[in-house]
Amino acid sequence: MNHFITLNDLPQLDTAVAAAIAMKKNPYGAEDLGRRKTLGMLFFNPSLRTRLSTQKAAQQLGIKTMVMNFSNEAWALEFEDGTQMSGLRSEHVKEAAQVVSQYCDMVAIRAFASLSDKKNDEAEIVLNSFAKYASIPVINMESATAHPLQALADAITITVHQKKKRPKVVLTWAPHPKALPHAVGNSFTRMMHRMDADFVIAQPKGQELNPEITKDTPLFYNQEEALEGADFVYTKNWCSYSDYGKILTTASDWMLTPEKMKLTNDAKFMHCLPIRRNIVVADGVLDHPNSLVIEQANNRTFAAQVVLHNFLNNG
Ligand code: CP
Repeated sequence: MNHFITLNDLPQLDTAVAAAIAMKKNPYGAEDLGRRKTLGMLFFNPSLRTRLSTQKAAQQLGIKTMVMNFSNEAWALEFEDGTQMSGLRSEHVKEAAQVVSQYCDMVAIRAFASLSDKKNDEAEIVLNSFAKYASIPVINMESATAHPLQALADAITITVHQKKKRPKVVLTWAPHPKALPHAVGNSFTRMMHRMDADFVIAQPKGQELNPEITKDTPLFYNQEEALEGADFVYTKNWCSYSDYGKILTTASDWMLTPEKMKLTNDAKFMHCLPIRRNIVVADGVLDHPNSLVIEQANNRTFAAQVVLHNFLNNG
């Protein structure tokens, strides 16, 4: 593994999930492995879970962390090659990535989608530029199109809670007042294709994710039909992909409620957090004993720990 940018950078999923579950039982078992190693953490966007869980994972491996909010603390970065830098951008990523590589042994980066330029977002300019110019491994802490650490935490959570070999897993779109990216929905879909799951997605017309990613997934436009017999229900908002970045509908009748959960097979409820109560999901679902959201957040630590451990093991 040179970098951890997409789930393709994690070839052995079963091994990674088993290792994470073992680390959760013995979090400090490899505390000396990261001695005198440094993880740089660069945030172009806010975070609660990703920041703290990745720092916690590093601590448990004996790694020191250096955190920087690039949105307001660093020089504004230029990403285009061959440009005359006469504008507001003071530093080129070519130098920045090489400089960070002098101080750190690994660098983790969060850089969300702009939601204004699909082509640019899909090119993953920030992550790929760092991967191109850095001489150290680059770890994705949520990029424009992917959130692989979240998807790995979700896989760990499902593995621990599944009662049958092939559970029914429903990813259902939810209403939201803000346009949100596709990263979580994309990575969860890719992860479900790698797990043995009867996986379906429900969304209103026009709210489909990237068809390249969902091409092997049954799509439902009737949420209640999709929920029937579900063992896990993952709810998430994402903006329109076809009319990129737009909120086409606020469809409040797509909020997940206790009444809708009665259609399921006593399903566990999942969400990556943060979540807007009584917009995305009713209190009665989020506060129900079947809600796994806090455990998912806890599993973020062990997802990150497995990835960091792999890099340390590979020298
Ligand atoms: N789920 C997740 O990535 O949370 P944060 O945005 O708080 O890091």
